Amino acid sequence: MIRCVQTRLFAVIGHPVKHSLSPAMMNAAFRALDIPAFYLALEVSDFLEDMKHITALGFDGLSVTIPHKESAMKLAVVDDEAARAIGAVNCLKRVDDVWRGKNTDWIGVVDSFKSRGIDISGKKALVLGAGGAARGVIYAALKMGAEVTVVNRTDEKAFSLADEFGINAVEHKSLKERVCDFQVVFQTTPVGMNGYPVEHFWPYDIFRPGMIVMDLVYRPAKTAFMKSAEERGCTVISGLDMLLYQGVAQFEWWFDRPAPLEAMKKALYEAAEQDDHV
Ligand code: ATR
Repeated sequence: MIRCVQTRLFAVIGHPVKHSLSPAMMNAAFRALDIPAFYLALEVSDFLEDMKHITALGFDGLSVTIPHKESAMKLAVVDDEAARAIGAVNCLKRVDDVWRGKNTDWIGVVDSFKSRGIDISGKKALVLGAGGAARGVIYAALKMGAEVTVVNRTDEKAFSLADEFGINAVEHKSLKERVCDFQVVFQTTPVGMNGYPVEHFWPYDIFRPGMIVMDLVYRPAKTAFMKSAEERGCTVISGLDMLLYQGVAQFEWWFDRPAPLEAMKKALYEAAEQDDHV
């Protein structure tokens, strides 16, 4: 067993993670609180095999990103009700030589709203997309007391997700007629992300003044979807906020102390701005 003795080791594991903004955010947190720790980005392609080496190297905590969140759920001891409902963990912590798992993605969504004083309880929320990211968002929106409906390019997936969570689904083809019913919209698909082959899928005329619109895509920091929502009088919330608050929750779970929010936010937004210019 190898253990790094000068400094505690943390990392984000995923594939690809080359452009991850998490190292900038987490290392800023360590610096702000003078914690002798370091946070890396590790490309992990074979999850179970690579986790053996990561464990042997003595890592204390890991952020887990696409495509390993479901595998991490299977590997870890998980007593987090949210992770079980969502079916994924995005955070691992080594406790007494055992990996424990937690989901903080949904906390990232809830705290993005809380930090702006936006209350969506009793409001009608529409979730665009029915993949892994949508599951965390649906869980968060339900926890915030919203009435949730899902719509997806592939209708069947929306309907089966709706069954599972006890929410509504609408067919993709009826989105335009139904959209007036909603006050909150969450965009959870990779559409609009830098480098993704498709820039535009959801019609921008779904936006109404006063809607609250959150796009989980944060590369670019302001997507075309968000720009268009803003132009039509909506309040927009960036996926960067979710990234920040899910990271804050991870830090607090690892260290059992309050995270340095401002330092993390500054580092994250600066790294995102640099990334937008690459
Ligand atoms: P993730 O775990 O990141 O959510 P996923 O499980 O692959 O990723 O889900 C991706 C979601 O984005 C799905 O809702 C997918 O729609 P389908 O179920 O129809 O595949 C949606 N998505 C991906 N590419 C899309 C595109 N070009 N246009 C519309 N929706 C897209």
